[in-house]
Amino acid sequence: MGSYEEIFRSSVEDRERFWLDAAGAIDWATPPTQALDESNPPFYRWFPDGELNVAYNALDRHVEAGRGEQAALIYDSPVTDTKRTYTYAQLRDEVAAFAGVLRDLGVSKGDRVVVYMPMVPEAAIAMLACARLGAVHSVVFGGFAAKELAVRIDDAQPTVVVSASCGIEGKRVIEYKPLLDKAIELATHKPAKRVILQRPQAEAAMGEDDVDWASAVAEAAPADPVPVKATDPLYVLYTSGTTGKPKGVVRDSGGYAVALAWSMPNVYDVGPGQTIFTASDVGWVVGHSYIVYAPLLAGATTVLYEGKPVGTPDAGQFWRVMSEYGVRSMFTAPTAFRALKKEDPDGEFARKYDLSGLKYLFLAGERLDPETYRWASKLLDIPVIDHWWQTETGWPIVANPAGIELLPVKPGSPTRPLPGWDIQVLDGDGKPVPAGTDGAIVAKLPLPPGAFPTLWNDDERFLKSYMSAFEGYYLTGDGGHLDEDGYVFVMGRTDDVINVAGHRLSTGGMEEVLASHPDVAECAVIGVTDQMKGQIPRGFVVLKAGVDTSAEGYEEKLRGELVAMVRDQVGAVASLKDVAIVDGLPKTRSGKILRKTMRGIADGTDESVPSTIDDASVLDTLRPVLRKE
Ligand code: COA
Ligand code: AMP
Repeated sequence: MGSYEEIFRSSVEDRERFWLDAAGAIDWATPPTQALDESNPPFYRWFPDGELNVAYNALDRHVEAGRGEQAALIYDSPVTDTKRTYTYAQLRDEVAAFAGVLRDLGVSKGDRVVVYMPMVPEAAIAMLACARLGAVHSVVFGGFAAKELAVRIDDAQPTVVVSASCGIEGKRVIEYKPLLDKAIELATHKPAKRVILQRPQAEAAMGEDDVDWASAVAEAAPADPVPVKATDPLYVLYTSGTTGKPKGVVRDSGGYAVALAWSMPNVYDVGPGQTIFTASDVGWVVGHSYIVYAPLLAGATTVLYEGKPVGTPDAGQFWRVMSEYGVRSMFTAPTAFRALKKEDPDGEFARKYDLSGLKYLFLAGERLDPETYRWASKLLDIPVIDHWWQTETGWPIVANPAGIELLPVKPGSPTRPLPGWDIQVLDGDGKPVPAGTDGAIVAKLPLPPGAFPTLWNDDERFLKSYMSAFEGYYLTGDGGHLDEDGYVFVMGRTDDVINVAGHRLSTGGMEEVLASHPDVAECAVIGVTDQMKGQIPRGFVVLKAGVDTSAEGYEEKLRGELVAMVRDQVGAVASLKDVAIVDGLPKTRSGKILRKTMRGIADGTDESVPSTIDDASVLDTLRPVLRKE
């Protein structure tokens, strides 16, 4: 073990050695002799001759090493008043049994399985069961509506969909089965079977192609792990891009396992037998990596929590979980801490619990505002670690590597690049900018293990979206700067992706929905600053000429319809509640809507009018609406 500087330098000076050494943390069916295959840039491949099974590494090997009785996964669900602990041996058996179910339904190596589930342990079991068979899971976040699920089903072409009868949102029971049925009706691809986990809060009516989880598991013979190539896909996770069509981020098996296994001791400082609590959702990348795979690969204990930080039953649940299970590292999005701070500003709930085991709070998913940083640091009196990453990267790009050494914190910076990440900031011409100057944050290729090798069935979009802006670099889509000490400052997205309560969403996707209303001629959706959620979307629509607006309450009715359409077609998670009917939208002379200008005015951060504007009077009329005057 060395200092951060030494470790980072060794990853640059001898990349092959560094990552082959890191690969030693994994049990391989065929150990790799080569770290990186660079023969076809920018399609780099990690550990090209290695073979492994990721689920075996997450479960069986710990049982074989004598850790079978240790807790692997703790399910804690205040919304259903349930607590359940799975030991490594139990979780392996459940996963093997469910893998048997999938195998009997025709799923084999390389086949896709869509998982559309709430935060129940069966979601993790389904993921690991796919991994055991060498099948490719694609988890779709439960807050997405039927249409979003349908788009993902059509792209992933799954053999089977795994779902549950319902999810619980606070005190509300959300029926999932009607959403799934609708999605399958909308989709062109029809999966052969759907496995449904019946939950007592709302049992689903079962159809001909529906298989009951419990009875299928009771009858299935367990399946053994199937070795796959390190370069074979473990999962596809769809994420929002600039258009309504989500991007299918592909995750390979070997590179991902190695990167996650490296990150657990070095970044999160969590080892075998220690507990990490990641309050996210298995539908997001944070959930894939740090609720499911990384803790289990490391032989640690993971907490899978169903519920919100506040609400049901109170704002003390995160603290209770940490104290009850002796959590060492907690990981969530800053928005969750803003919710806690709003509900319990003096931290009275926190003081009720013994949090002496908690060593670190990790935050990611959106910019950590200094106020939340200060509040959490003062309340907990432990290192509060901001770190930056993306669905595409699978694990942190920039962090304060707690397990190596804690670097001095600079508020506003998620700190320094992790091994394998050569982070640079470029101007529009692709030239590096001086320290302290904002530009496009890029990573020099090749990306380290764990990062996406391509997009599902879409090499062309991979090249166009990420690899073509600056040759030899991955375009992160985030803007920001490096300072003279090599600290990275991430200021926000440079595209039309927004971050609402830590959920990544596409304003383009919402615009497509608004534009489909028969009265709407054109529209814009922008993400504006929100105290609680970080950002929220606001919509602006221009009506078609000749639309009859004379009926009483027309505008209110239209706004209601537009909000309902987005909720119905994208999902409640879009949180679009504010749509304004306006006379016009500001555009450049070539007809591009000036969304950034609108955002600056709405947020009160930038009043400047670009010289490319076609008609400044349109913006003058819109300004009071943007400012909500
Ligand atoms: N299934 C169905 N509906 C869902 C859902 C799910 N899995 N997740 C969210 N929704 C719904 C919510 O119920 C809410 O509906 P409403 O408009 O009827 O109230 C809507 O989608 C918006 O959800 P959200 O933006 O999450 O707001 P919230 O007020 O319910 O909760 C937070 C706000 C901050 C408490 C919560 O988002 C949170 O804990 N986030 C941090 C952790 C996290 O998940 N980060 C992700 C990446 S690290
Ligand atoms: P996702 O793919 O959902 O993980 O979202 C990735 C995006 O979230 C990034 O491109 C950033 O815009 C934002 N993000 C994640 N972590 C941070 C962070 N620590 N600071 C600033 N922005 C972040």
